[in-house]
Amino acid sequence: MASWKSWTVFVVVCLLGKISGLDNGLALTPPMGWLAWERFRCNTDCKNDPDNCISDRLFRTMTDILVNEGYAAAGYEYINVDDCWPERERDPRGRLVPDRERFPYGMKSLSDYVHSKGLKFGIYEDYGNFTCAGYPGVVGHLAGDASTFASWGVDYVKLDGCYALPADMDHGYPEFGRQLNLTGRQMVYSCSWPVYQIYAGLQPNFTSIIEHCNLWRNFDDIQDSWASVESIIDYYGNHQDVIVPNAGPGHWNDPDMLIIGNFGLSYEQSKTQFAIWAILAAPLLMSVDLRTIRPEYKAILQNRKIIEVDQDPLGIQGRRIYKHRGIEIWSRPILPIHGQHYSYAVAFVNRRTDGTPSDVAVTLRELGLNNPAGYRVEDLYEDVDYGVLSPQTKIKVKVNPSGVVILRADAQPPFAYNAIPTRTPYNDVFRLSRK
Ligand code: GLA
Repeated sequence: MASWKSWTVFVVVCLLGKISGLDNGLALTPPMGWLAWERFRCNTDCKNDPDNCISDRLFRTMTDILVNEGYAAAGYEYINVDDCWPERERDPRGRLVPDRERFPYGMKSLSDYVHSKGLKFGIYEDYGNFTCAGYPGVVGHLAGDASTFASWGVDYVKLDGCYALPADMDHGYPEFGRQLNLTGRQMVYSCSWPVYQIYAGLQPNFTSIIEHCNLWRNFDDIQDSWASVESIIDYYGNHQDVIVPNAGPGHWNDPDMLIIGNFGLSYEQSKTQFAIWAILAAPLLMSVDLRTIRPEYKAILQNRKIIEVDQDPLGIQGRRIYKHRGIEIWSRPILPIHGQHYSYAVAFVNRRTDGTPSDVAVTLRELGLNNPAGYRVEDLYEDVDYGVLSPQTKIKVKVNPSGVVILRADAQPPFAYNAIPTRTPYNDVFRLSRK
């Protein structure tokens, strides 16, 4: 018979599970993968544009590249279909049917292919009468569509909210989630529930959203421009008191896709998107043509050190801790923890448009990093290891216009304090600040 102690542990674990999010055991770190929408949209013209239309071929090609070109090894796992995959009409038995010309082998075959490469397969639907692009929505077919997805081997469902009443979503999204669970197949559940309610002037019930969804959208669709990325960064910074506490293992805010490698972002801006998405504990869903992406953008997307920040097991979303005259500092608590002291990823963003890099100088203490044993500080793009720095050390970074410097500061256990190296790139600054 189990002792009272083990029962107590069991009950506590259950209670924690209940309050800590959708209990499907998935997305304990933010999902990573490739998603068609931002780059390939609703291109259904396979006759004139066979390489770029939403088709079986496109997804198989991206699957191959994910595996063959290092993305899967870096953590990208999901191949996600977005809108415009089905026929305009359901079949006579009310089932969704993939477009017969563009997906001639059906979705099970595509999903099998993705699985055969060790990846996972995601699909898109919409809670309303239609998807945003006018294809059939799931309303009236919740149980049937959930079981169709399970039979196709779907691992991830993005459920959009066009052509639906935002007020209905408080029961509709949980109900579709329940139907997904009833299939017995584990599927990550991505919801657009809060964003449609916010647009309708309703106050989203985040307690319920956290309980029923693995991730959710809060704000506008990302577009291929720096202005769009900036607007998302601002939204998350300006609403962080409401948004940040909702994130955690199994339940994430989704600031939308990565557009790195497309047409709209410079190299600096691409680095900024990736760094801030990591600070935000965001899903990393690339929407880019992986066949033609330039190597420097690929390198950003495969930056292991920044991916490690994004995937930090604590799952604490970061915050904007400073904003003044175009300079922002963002900070995210990460592992390891020593005593009372977290480690941190810290991003310095330059939003200024005067065309020269800006210097930012700040002590670790001013960033809230007070561990008396210090922090090992490392630049995550430049591959510079600053060594172990004490809280009173002033660090100085040069941030390019619309660019970023992202550091990680690993809290040191007490004994490591003596190991401060004597020479570092900013040795003079350190000596000054220690006097
Ligand atoms: C909405 C979503 C996008 C995309 C499109 C597809 O706008 O927010 O991410 O899925 O629909 O039509």
